[in-house]
Amino acid sequence: MNSATPTDLLAAKEPSGENAIDRVLVLEMVRVTEAAAVAAGQLIGRGDEKAADAAAVEAMRRAFDGLYMDGTVVIGEGERDEAPMLYIGEKVGGAPGKGPKIDIALDPLEGTTITAKAGPNALAVLAAAEEGDLLNAPDVYMDKLAVGPGLPAGVIDLAKSPTENVKAVASAKGREPSDINVCVLDRPRHADLIAELRAIGCGVHLIGDGDVAGVIAVTDQDTGIDMYMGQGGAPEGVLAAAALRCVGGQFNGRLVFRNEDERARAKKWGIEDLDKIYTLTELAKGDCIFAATGVTSGSLLEGVKKRKKSTGATIMTTESVVMRASSGTVRWIRGEHRIEPHRA
Ligand code: FBP
Repeated sequence: MNSATPTDLLAAKEPSGENAIDRVLVLEMVRVTEAAAVAAGQLIGRGDEKAADAAAVEAMRRAFDGLYMDGTVVIGEGERDEAPMLYIGEKVGGAPGKGPKIDIALDPLEGTTITAKAGPNALAVLAAAEEGDLLNAPDVYMDKLAVGPGLPAGVIDLAKSPTENVKAVASAKGREPSDINVCVLDRPRHADLIAELRAIGCGVHLIGDGDVAGVIAVTDQDTGIDMYMGQGGAPEGVLAAAALRCVGGQFNGRLVFRNEDERARAKKWGIEDLDKIYTLTELAKGDCIFAATGVTSGSLLEGVKKRKKSTGATIMTTESVVMRASSGTVRWIRGEHRIEPHRA
């Protein structure tokens, strides 16, 4: 007879394996993003960004307890005094002081506005790597430039103009600049960039929010997107870089500081060269895992959907992806989650 109590069954168990990432159980990371997505998914289109974000944060925080690791949030919901949970420096995981030391970059709800308005491409997302392997990016903007796999190393360079970069990518792909499609966040600050791209004939795909999915779109030929350009959140830049480490592609990122306070924050996190252009492995080095679950449907994943089964049970369906840099394995996972009757 199995004498395990429900608490035993939920407790983090020590898995076997060689390196820290093995021992964190790559697939288990999906349970964490699934939990956040299911929680936020119940608030899609309700017009309440804060409630959706809070639900995702709380569910993700709880789900981490089931992982056998001594985890530290290095990119999270904010600094300790501004975020009650999943703040930078918070310890997560069910084996503090015992399990492998893992750094976590997370965004329980990437696309709070999208979720509130039921728009496309909101994700619950995280990246995990061995201690010290993820850039501890401050919550400032980052200038981003990305292309998918299969192009010559160094084809993009953030030090060059958008036109020069488009021409280089077009030539590497054997196409004209007017055949290149670029994804850009739809923001007034990008007016010059958009005008420059349109002047050379590029297709500019404007997205309202969610540049983690926007960057990852360059790795999927079906999206038709060749490049990602423009300024978005630096934490989202590290998350997207971790994904590109797993599936291939190139990324350049440069932190953008709007004032002295932001510069001081970067220095506090140990960033000395404020003008540095970071490449993929400078943002996420070593082995790393990227996991995401769709909250609303988009180019990467289907969103959370509520369904009634023939048995009468109400379930939430999820679609997730989990990838690992060292093996390049990409797993797509569909989940069905029974939800509590009072939420049905
Ligand atoms: P939130 O999840 O915090 O709403 O971020 C959504 C997002 O669109 C990111 O994907 C992007 O990096 C950032 O906001 C851009 O910031 P801003 O809205 O200030 O232009």
